[in-house]
Amino acid sequence: MRTPSQPSALTGAPAPVAPWTPDSWRSKPARQQPVYSDPAELEAVTRELSVLPPLVTSFEVERLKALLAEAQEGRRFLLQGGDCAERLDDCRADPIARRLKILLQMSLVLTHGLQKPVVRVGRFAGQYAKPRSRVTETRTVDGVAETLPSYFGDLVNRLEFESAARQPDPQRLKQGFYHAAMTLNFVRALVEGGFTDWQQLERWDLAFFRAAALSSERKSQYERVKSALAEALRRGDGLLQEHSAGADHFYASHEGLHLEYERALTRDVPHRRGYYCLSTHLPWIGDRTRGLDEAHVEFFRGLRNPVGVKLGPSATPEEVRALALTLNPEDEPGRLVLLSRVGADRVEDHLPAWIQAVEDRRVLWVCDPMHGNTTQSPSGFKTRSFDAIVAEFEQTFAVHERMGRTLGGLHCELTADDVTECIGGSEGLEEASLNVRYETACDPRLNYQQSLELAFLLAHHRQSR
Ligand code: PEP
Ligand code: CO
Repeated sequence: MRTPSQPSALTGAPAPVAPWTPDSWRSKPARQQPVYSDPAELEAVTRELSVLPPLVTSFEVERLKALLAEAQEGRRFLLQGGDCAERLDDCRADPIARRLKILLQMSLVLTHGLQKPVVRVGRFAGQYAKPRSRVTETRTVDGVAETLPSYFGDLVNRLEFESAARQPDPQRLKQGFYHAAMTLNFVRALVEGGFTDWQQLERWDLAFFRAAALSSERKSQYERVKSALAEALRRGDGLLQEHSAGADHFYASHEGLHLEYERALTRDVPHRRGYYCLSTHLPWIGDRTRGLDEAHVEFFRGLRNPVGVKLGPSATPEEVRALALTLNPEDEPGRLVLLSRVGADRVEDHLPAWIQAVEDRRVLWVCDPMHGNTTQSPSGFKTRSFDAIVAEFEQTFAVHERMGRTLGGLHCELTADDVTECIGGSEGLEEASLNVRYETACDPRLNYQQSLELAFLLAHHRQSR
């Protein structure tokens, strides 16, 4: 058998690597992993999880991989969206249905605007583990500064700022698993049962069309997108019909951060080659855990799933190439998704060199215009500007086009609720209003109107070319 090889980060030259096993990551440094006070309890929990039926199947994973392969060739577009930190409490009928509705509405607008079918992937049913920049958080309580472990997502600990809540608890892995299962079960029941709430354009809440801050030029642009879409729906446009009929194809994704959890859900499947991570269809590696010789890359390189990697400004072109060769040595179609997230001002500084570094490889390039555009408002809220989000997407789109490639997707943090977390958009949300309904457990999300407006704006930009 051929000895597997891995490119060296600096030269791209192959260096021998040890064989992969579902546990080979254990010999590598693993960032962002909770330290549990009772390792025996963790082991008992993961053993229990490892024999339960998985959340998704290898058939679905392979089907998504085939769709992503088509997106790599420019024939489809990926829309991936949902909460930054999904909460166990969000596992209720109404929030799940509303989340599905906004993603379906956005995907309908984008299908029409881009003139290609959209692959819908939620950031949900398991987006419960969060990497943090700081391991502790300090707050002043009753005039006294108190420091506690940071909140690492509902899979690990609780958000309340109190000592007991912030201790990592292995039982939460089971809670996360069950809530992900219930969420997926309801999503599947809705889409397979013909959830049509999103199909009647006249019933959409398009309040942003009437917002006082919206210029008349923008308003008429949105009206044009809307009437073109309405007309296409009326005449039974084939692409939109296919889109509607294919609404049962809805996939789940989350950051595959918690390696003990992901390992417990990773299985070898009868009659198939290799191991599938069956906690979700599309797991991704975050920007903080993409170190080449570290545990996450080691774990992900052996999975049969399509896998994503977030790329922030610190990634070098050499690292990007080495990641592509390590995670997809056989250049398998639909396998690798690279998500650039550098900030609106820095697209030109990084993206062209990254694209060039992997131009001979099969890659689905996706723009995450959220994570490079996070700022702190004067009142202390983490926020993002709608304009910066649009600008990063547009510049990313333009760079790919200039280099003869296609941008294959959009990755967003959004909610169907009327929150006040990102500034701007046609409603003109200002910094002073962030406190009105700031609900995220982690990063600021686009609200319902901002999400829909983003889809309309991107559709308009494509249609007017
Ligand atoms: C995220 O997607 O919520 C996240 C933490 O992203 P990144 O790894 O790109 O910072
Ligand atoms: Co986030």
